[in-house]
Amino acid sequence: MTHRQIGRSSGARGTIWIDGREMEISGDETIAQTTMRHGVRIDQPCGGRGTCGKCRVLLRDGGGPFETAIAPGLSMDEVAQGYRLACRTAAADGMRVALLREPDGGGRILEFGSGTFERIAPAVRESMAREAFGISDEGEILGVALDIGTTTLAASLLDLRNGALLCSASCANPQSAHGGDVISRISYAVEASSGLEILQREVVDATNALIERLAAKACLGTDRILHVVAAGNTTMEHCFRGVSPEPIGRAPFAPPFRRADRVSAGALGLKANPLAFVDLISNIAGHVGGDLVSGIYYSKMLEGDEISLLIDTGTNNEMALGNRHFLVVCSAAAGPALEGACIRDGMRATCGAIEHVAFEDGLLHCSVIGDCAPGGICGSGLVDLIAGMLRVGVLSSTGRIAAAEAVPGSLYAGHLAKAEGGREFRVAPRDGGFIAVTQKDVRETQLAKGAIATGLEMLLDRAGLRTTSIDRVLLAGAFGSYMDLENAIALGILPDLPREGIIPLGNAAGLGCAKALLHGDAFDIAEEIAAKAEHLELATSPAFQEKFLKNLEFKTCLS
Ligand code: FES
Repeated sequence: MTHRQIGRSSGARGTIWIDGREMEISGDETIAQTTMRHGVRIDQPCGGRGTCGKCRVLLRDGGGPFETAIAPGLSMDEVAQGYRLACRTAAADGMRVALLREPDGGGRILEFGSGTFERIAPAVRESMAREAFGISDEGEILGVALDIGTTTLAASLLDLRNGALLCSASCANPQSAHGGDVISRISYAVEASSGLEILQREVVDATNALIERLAAKACLGTDRILHVVAAGNTTMEHCFRGVSPEPIGRAPFAPPFRRADRVSAGALGLKANPLAFVDLISNIAGHVGGDLVSGIYYSKMLEGDEISLLIDTGTNNEMALGNRHFLVVCSAAAGPALEGACIRDGMRATCGAIEHVAFEDGLLHCSVIGDCAPGGICGSGLVDLIAGMLRVGVLSSTGRIAAAEAVPGSLYAGHLAKAEGGREFRVAPRDGGFIAVTQKDVRETQLAKGAIATGLEMLLDRAGLRTTSIDRVLLAGAFGSYMDLENAIALGILPDLPREGIIPLGNAAGLGCAKALLHGDAFDIAEEIAAKAEHLELATSPAFQEKFLKNLEFKTCLS
């Protein structure tokens, strides 16, 4: 494994100051590794390969030779100004470093809401609890619903006696330090020494921290937790169970398991009653996971005649089209643009992210998350910006940013500038420069929207349907809940259908797990869903490339 090898100084020990906070260096480690040991997690979307530039920090004092700082994610100018990649720069005694972004908190959290879930026949019944789990009083018996996201973990605590949702919590998935997408995680599991064990320990430890928070909030002991139901994409589910996801990373992308055997919390090291059941929702294929199945189950989309399209937008965009008669599913590698990664000034939807932008009379009105100065652009902000740029005529439908002199009458010509690698559209000042949308950012967004639109087209073709046949579009996950519908439709990320039929579901995967905790037959239903699904493998489909190229162009339903 060659990650994070550049710039190490052998045997380095001493002290480093990060934003004025003193941190001990332990042996050979990078700045990112030192801060992580001290609980400050620097986001590393490319897994420390030095290519994304998202982990850049400003070196105020100390540091190694100039040449060791050169990496694809940093320009020479930036190196000269003192910027360094935290993932590639050795922590050295006496170094003083400024963080340029809020440490990674996992992005905007989409928890489970509140209320009571319908209780039908939970797998753990009260009478059984007293006998089998040693709970001898009449008090609560608990279940945990867990959404294992690539970026974020979210958990809820439920009272299995009555279905009441007691509380929820979430945190960043600590595996993000090894890369922002599932391919990076698979690489880490396969190539790093003890990679799989590390990935499993990280997700189990983070889940335990969440469980302890939940139990403390509810003032209840973790030994009352008798059932944990979890769902994630197929790679996350394998890492959680400590099964190598290696086959998922190559054609035919077959997962080692589709339905995992039930294990005990004790065997997995989870903080719950040691005999508690731990179940995973079945996956469908290597890149169509239990999270989609859980969302399908929660949405009830297979219970009626209405045709529903469920979209879970992420790095790997998962989609399901169906009703009670049929179900077709696919995943399209949309890339991380809509999560703010691989975008020059992109960031997760956390404090400081520009989440919405309105174009009005030559001005840009930016909404920023939290009480922070703008630090970058998250996915929903990027969608608004690109749709706005198309509307005001500074971006062509082919995705080319105009030169200022080519749009002399435009109220937004002043936002256009030349930049390294093409033109950019400047949005807001930052650090003596500008937060901007670059030509490359537009291309990345086109790749994402092209993959999503092509996935939908192929699902419809397979089902012999047209876009207008879709009765409901169900949006799972954070992006679906926060993006501006009109702008997403304008870019072709969502189909142009009546707005009242487009419904954000929230954390559909987690909500499906909560529902499964309270329904005894949930696993049979999830298994039925997984078995009923016809899976389209787009990565090996010859038709995909052809349609994908056509779908790269921005449609023009702009008003
Ligand atoms: Fe450091 Fe990507 S460049 S994590």
